[in-house]
Amino acid sequence: LIVGGGNVAAQRIVSVRTADAHVILVCPAQGLIDETRYRIENKEVTWIDRNFVDSDLDGMDMVLTAMDDHEESARIGHLCRSKRIPVNVADVPPLCDFYFMSQHREGPLQIAVSTNGQGPKLANMIRTKIAATLPKDIGKTIEKMGLLRAKVREWEPAIENSGKRMGWVIRCCETWGLETMSKLNELKGKEEENLYKVLEEYFKKNEVPPTSLVFPSSPEIALIGAGPGDPELITVKAKRCLLEADLVVSDRLIPQQVLDLVQGELRIARKTTGRSDEAQEELLEWCLEGLKKNQRVVRLKIGDPLLFGRGGEEILWFRERGYEPVMVPGISSAFSAPMAAMIPVTFRGVSDQVIITTGRGTKGSMPDLPEYGSTRMLVVLMAVGRAVELRQMLLERDYPLTTPICWVENANCPEERVVLGILETMASVVVDNNIKAPAVLIVGKSVDVLTR
Ligand SMILES: C[S@@+](CC[C@H](N)C(=O)[O-])C[C@H]1O[C@@H](n2cnc3c(N)ncnc32)[C@H](O)[C@@H]1O
Repeated sequence: LIVGGGNVAAQRIVSVRTADAHVILVCPAQGLIDETRYRIENKEVTWIDRNFVDSDLDGMDMVLTAMDDHEESARIGHLCRSKRIPVNVADVPPLCDFYFMSQHREGPLQIAVSTNGQGPKLANMIRTKIAATLPKDIGKTIEKMGLLRAKVREWEPAIENSGKRMGWVIRCCETWGLETMSKLNELKGKEEENLYKVLEEYFKKNEVPPTSLVFPSSPEIALIGAGPGDPELITVKAKRCLLEADLVVSDRLIPQQVLDLVQGELRIARKTTGRSDEAQEELLEWCLEGLKKNQRVVRLKIGDPLLFGRGGEEILWFRERGYEPVMVPGISSAFSAPMAAMIPVTFRGVSDQVIITTGRGTKGSMPDLPEYGSTRMLVVLMAVGRAVELRQMLLERDYPLTTPICWVENANCPEERVVLGILETMASVVVDNNIKAPAVLIVGKSVDVLTR
């Protein structure tokens, strides 16, 4: 029984109808809004055109009041209690025997969020947030998995094999992952039949078929920028690629919080003291192995993939082997580190040029630093082990000893440190503060423009 005909009553009708309830609505005609009127005309509810009378409770299994008259509403609530009929009195939690949950439905999927009557709007916001994280058409994917479970029962119907059936389906779900499973929605006719044949073979062996076999994809190599370390500083596209990749081959510098996004296989470059060329060749070979197995491979690189770190060479390497990489830019430490230290790399009237350079050229050579320019900023990557030599070179290029400098270690990571100084102390602060790579050095007048 629903007492009332306004907006709340209209919402209640929808909620209880989705649970197949037979609804009787008591409300005089003048209290109906268009939507409740529509439900009546559509014969979704049985309507009684008058105010509530106590005998309306006879034979009811559940009562919902949704009316403006709060006194009458509370009276009905108490009456229901005395007759032991479960009741919900809208907006009066102490008089409710149950609350409505905020629900998300998509085919067979049902997600219900409750705040135990304390924050219905919050429940609604939480539900919307949860629903937004689900893969597209998840309802259809669930139906497909339901179909697979039915097939599995056909393949091995014996009741004593239910453990094997359930275990196999669970392992399949865990191996394939939600995102990949949603590809089941794309299969049609013959493709789907063939898939079930393969799955049956594997089920009989009690083995989980590899993801690349069930969801074949064309091989793809993507060079992706992971950003400087904070997982929130990765692009939406890069995150999607990471979630969907069969194989991710990562630089050593990438922090665990970013690697935690990887769903497929993860391989991390080895330590490289004195053998960086071999390590580089090895990780490219790992990528190639994946590509030959038709996998979607991600080569994950710190910061932006094309700023230092051999990104360009890797493009050529893959091209020579017939694969054109997909490129996904990342936020470079060259920009994020100064920002982390609140250093604007350009500032009107103070600096109007930024030069990004390495502190260590190929095979350990020194970079060719520019002459001093009073409005020029220098951002130097890979500079920690070269602080003494770089300082000397800057002096030779006429940089004043008082030029402000800043070291930013582990920018945008939990261990981030900012150490300020001037050119005179540029090398000694590295030793005094035990600054370690990865760090970015920033030199020029903008360094202290916001703190001066
Ligand atoms: C091989 S380069 C790669 C640069 C990267 N592609 C980028 O765009 O940031 C490695 C250097 O990047 C800098 N770097 C990368 N991440 C950093 C971070 N989170 N904090 C400070 N420096 C970082 C350091 O100078 C490190 O030695």
